[in-house]
Amino acid sequence: METKQEIVKQKQYIEKVREINKEKQLKYYILTMGCQLNENDSEKICGMLEEMGYISTEDYTQADLVIFNTCCVRENAEDKLFGKLGELKKVKEKRGTIIAIGGCMMQEKHITDKIQESYPYTDIIFGTHTMHKLPEDIYKILENRKKLQDVIDIDGEIYEGLPIKRTSEIKASVTIMYGCNNFCSYCIVPYVRGRERSRHPKDILEEVEQLAKEGYKEITLLGQNVNSYLRAEKWKEEGKEYKGINSFATLLKEINKIDGIERIRFVSPHPKDFTDDVIDAIASCEKICKLVHLPLQSGSTQVLKTMNRKYTKEQYLELVEKMKAKIPNLTLSTDIIVGFAGETEEDFEDTLDVVRKVCFEQVYMFIYSRRVGTPGDKMENQIPEEIKHKRFDRLKQLVESQIAENNQKYVGTIQKVLVEGPSKNNPKLLTGRTDSNKVVIFEGEQELINKIIDLKIVSEHMWYLKGERK
Ligand code: SAH
Ligand code: SF4
Ligand code: F3S
Repeated sequence: METKQEIVKQKQYIEKVREINKEKQLKYYILTMGCQLNENDSEKICGMLEEMGYISTEDYTQADLVIFNTCCVRENAEDKLFGKLGELKKVKEKRGTIIAIGGCMMQEKHITDKIQESYPYTDIIFGTHTMHKLPEDIYKILENRKKLQDVIDIDGEIYEGLPIKRTSEIKASVTIMYGCNNFCSYCIVPYVRGRERSRHPKDILEEVEQLAKEGYKEITLLGQNVNSYLRAEKWKEEGKEYKGINSFATLLKEINKIDGIERIRFVSPHPKDFTDDVIDAIASCEKICKLVHLPLQSGSTQVLKTMNRKYTKEQYLELVEKMKAKIPNLTLSTDIIVGFAGETEEDFEDTLDVVRKVCFEQVYMFIYSRRVGTPGDKMENQIPEEIKHKRFDRLKQLVESQIAENNQKYVGTIQKVLVEGPSKNNPKLLTGRTDSNKVVIFEGEQELINKIIDLKIVSEHMWYLKGERK
């Protein structure tokens, strides 16, 4: 298989770079700017770098190699990247730092053009389809110091067997599929990540089994549309099934059997593909967390239509009702975009209405950001920034009042909490998360880290709960 040979080749480059770096103690700094998939990519980038002999540093002024793993889902990411690149100029002049920029934003031509023109001291530009070639790219830079751009626009491949350096020892992410076929009209992701393609179930199960062996308790399955896992794979008809896995629901059930893993989460499913077998799997698998992220985007049927989301307000609400009826203790989180082209005051009221009705555990709110090349950007009736911001503030107010109300329900209850480590704000206390992903802070011994324990919730605050051991 071609991709396998490619990875063998890259491993040879890893050895070559390692040889060049020998005894030099070179340092790398990485900044990850995107979603959980992007973070998982960064873990693979770090895996490759460490095998090449680089050591991690959190101070970019001390780094010999700086990597930015970019995101382009909203505009603010661009300002951030260009700001950071500006700061790097002096560091590069002083230390000769190699600068490599990768990730989704590098799939956009107007961005790479701007980098070439305004930040010519950038050494490597790589895209989402060429990330695995970083060892080769770095080798070439070390050998001849000529800058290179390695970006291709293809449907995409799957590369297995890259080294990985995980950021947590307790929770791990496992990408199960790449790309997206949905083309929601506001979204850039399908253009920068290619078409949907699923990893083979055997590779996923082996990765999760390995994680269980290493002591991980919680895994999150990642993909832009996880419930279309394996939908497009041709090999299913060729009898190459593995343990009967032929869908997202069957994958969930198999992962649920893996000893050692105690919690399973997944992001993001698409409401239009939320089939009954997935609902049944969540209900029947005890390890699957009963917090489901179900992106709404808008509560208005008309806006959902122009967004190309393929469900109506009523269908979304019916799905929620069905899920609540079948899954005891279900909680929901969601994503909402405010101020998409053509959104009227009435449409926005529909969004507020759904939020009131569903009472989400958590809402990730975004102001619509026009993305070059998407249908949304070409729509005529764009909403003025001022109105977008006003609507955003109204939604935020509603969401915060709901969260405050929701938090009250936790007080006095016993919650199962996976203990993650010392609290950032007060290292004398420990922090962990409930099944519904709420942060709980409490007093306890270090030995509790990486265990699931019962805590009594004694008080609530906006973004965390306080717990006590029973
Ligand atoms: N595939 C996932 C996540 C996509 S990106 C899904 O469908 O839910 C994460 C979130 O960013 C989206 O759910 C959406 O709410 C938001 N988003 C995407 N494009 C955006 C844009 N152009 N402007 C503002 N928010 C956007
Ligand atoms: Fe973007 Fe829609 Fe695909 Fe999510 S499902 S990545 S919002 S196009
Ligand atoms: Fe993720 Fe941003 Fe890319 S949200 S898929 S890193 S555009």
